Amino acid sequence: MKTMIVYQSMHGCTEKCAAKLQAVLPGGADVVNLKETKKADPQQYDAVIIGGSIHAGRIQGGIKRFCAAHRETLLEKKLGLFLCCMEEEQAQKQFDENFPEPLRKHAKAQGIFGGEFDFERMNFIARTIVKKVSGMTESVSKISEEAIRKFVEDLK
Ligand SMILES: Cc1cc2nc3c(=O)[nH]c(=O)nc-3n(C[C@H](O)[C@H](O)[C@H](O)COP(=O)(O)O)c2cc1C
Repeated sequence: MKTMIVYQSMHGCTEKCAAKLQAVLPGGADVVNLKETKKADPQQYDAVIIGGSIHAGRIQGGIKRFCAAHRETLLEKKLGLFLCCMEEEQAQKQFDENFPEPLRKHAKAQGIFGGEFDFERMNFIARTIVKKVSGMTESVSKISEEAIRKFVEDLK
């Protein structure tokens, strides 16, 4: 089983989750950062995992474009979709609004992995906004190992 994980990440949380998946998937996986390559081709893989994160309610444009460009191919693969975000109450809504319905219906695994606020990696504007909106003053990590474990189980 040849697996590809494609992701996009602003401050490293989705990247960390992609690496965690790669480490536990039987047979490993090729990990592709869509920010670094526009030529990610899912055709040669048996399974494809797509992961992105939410900023101001939206997933990265690169993830949207990848899903749209490879829709037919993705519908023929074993598919997993995961999201990183911090607003727990909005998480499912954000997942549903940001991954296309046909892909959600087809996916064997859907994961909401939680998120992180890494103030060290944010620029001044993002740091100021996030501190104000969240009320948090220190970096925090809320990645759910349980959600990742279940995702891998569901994908089997
Ligand atoms: C500027 C900014 C806006 C954000 N907006 C949202 C949001 O609308 N909803 C949400 O659930 N999380 C939001 N988050 C939290 C991110 O989804 C969370 O930090 C996630 O772990 C980011 O993953 P990444 O580092 O891989 O991009 C926001 C974070 C930042 C920095």
